[in-house]
Amino acid sequence: MQYQSLADDLPSVSRLSLGSWNTFSRCSSEQLEALLARAFERGINLLDVGYYWDKPDTEDAVAAALRGLAAPRDSYTIAQKLWLWDYPEHSFAEQLGRSLQRLGSDHVDIVMVSRPTADLALEPFIGEVVALVEAGMARAWGVTNFTPEQLRDTLALVNQRNWPHPVLLQVQYNVMRRGVVEGPGYAELFAEGAIRLCAANMLEGGILAGHLERDRVNPPEFAEGKRPVHRNICRDSGGIRELIRERQPRLREIARDFGASPAQLALAFGLSHPHLGTALVGVTEPDHVDENVAALALLDCATEIRAAVDELAIEGVAHPKLFNPHNGI
Ligand SMILES: NC(=O)c1ccc[n+]([C@@H]2O[C@H](COP(=O)([O-])OP(=O)(O)OC[C@H]3O[C@@H](n4cnc5c(N)ncnc54)[C@H](OP(=O)(O)O)[C@@H]3O)[C@@H](O)[C@H]2O)c1
Repeated sequence: MQYQSLADDLPSVSRLSLGSWNTFSRCSSEQLEALLARAFERGINLLDVGYYWDKPDTEDAVAAALRGLAAPRDSYTIAQKLWLWDYPEHSFAEQLGRSLQRLGSDHVDIVMVSRPTADLALEPFIGEVVALVEAGMARAWGVTNFTPEQLRDTLALVNQRNWPHPVLLQVQYNVMRRGVVEGPGYAELFAEGAIRLCAANMLEGGILAGHLERDRVNPPEFAEGKRPVHRNICRDSGGIRELIRERQPRLREIARDFGASPAQLALAFGLSHPHLGTALVGVTEPDHVDENVAALALLDCATEIRAAVDELAIEGVAHPKLFNPHNGI
């Protein structure tokens, strides 16, 4: 495993990490323990966790598995998401407090805040997140899906206030869906060393690995009882998912040239981003942990891989809208 230091007072995090949305909740408690045991054996030390609208038991499941494994608290790190669904009526301290209770811990390692809506003033918003770090509820903080402009304003604010800097930007990034991360706004911020990337959706919810039938079920349809094939996957910003499905067989062919599976090649692409902090992948099977960790070995030919998959990039990738299950988007 390779590790990346994000902040002085935070343990270095594994370059490949585990997401949890719609994966951990599909495992039995025994399967989840076996999955986490395998991930830890392979050197993965970051779990990205959240209170999910369609899988609200995920944090409890993670806590039970970690207890079952008797994993020492300093042997792994947790990145925890903060949503805006009930904000500002309920503060971030309340939201994180509830998650900590479910996780059975007194702190998370990185708290990741969703981007603010236009009506929220930035200073009190960021101030509330920084206060969680100052209170010891989180050791560091990061942002999810901020626009480049919001991130730039945030960095100016923390510099002005002498607040701790955000350490990660979580945003979708994969071999076909790359335009937002590689577009001018973020590209400049990464080049300045302002933040590190937490790549998410690297397999497009499994489609890039060959699960072509997977698709999104939105909160209103979910509330009416519609269930996804295998698992739910994220929204299709920019409407490029059909094209992604069409191009997956070509990814498989290119992967074969590198002696890799399509999942491994897609992961090698995300893992090779020059300003990566960590890359998240959702997994339910221990053998897929092995397969995915083996993608790190492909980084020896990262330049060749990036050149070979260039033809797969899809234009028209849009920045995701702010997600709120209460109003169905
Ligand atoms: N910030 C954002 O906008 C955003 C968007 C999307 C996701 N995320 C975060 O990123 C994390 C990861 O994303 P995700 O789980 O949605 O999607 P993902 O990582 O792109 O895909 C995960 C799926 O790929 C399949 N898979 C993994 N390794 C495989 C292998 N070696 N061979 C075959 N199939 C394999 C798994 O299928 P099985 O489940 O059947 O094993 C799994 O469900 C999530 O936990 C989420 O929190 C953030």
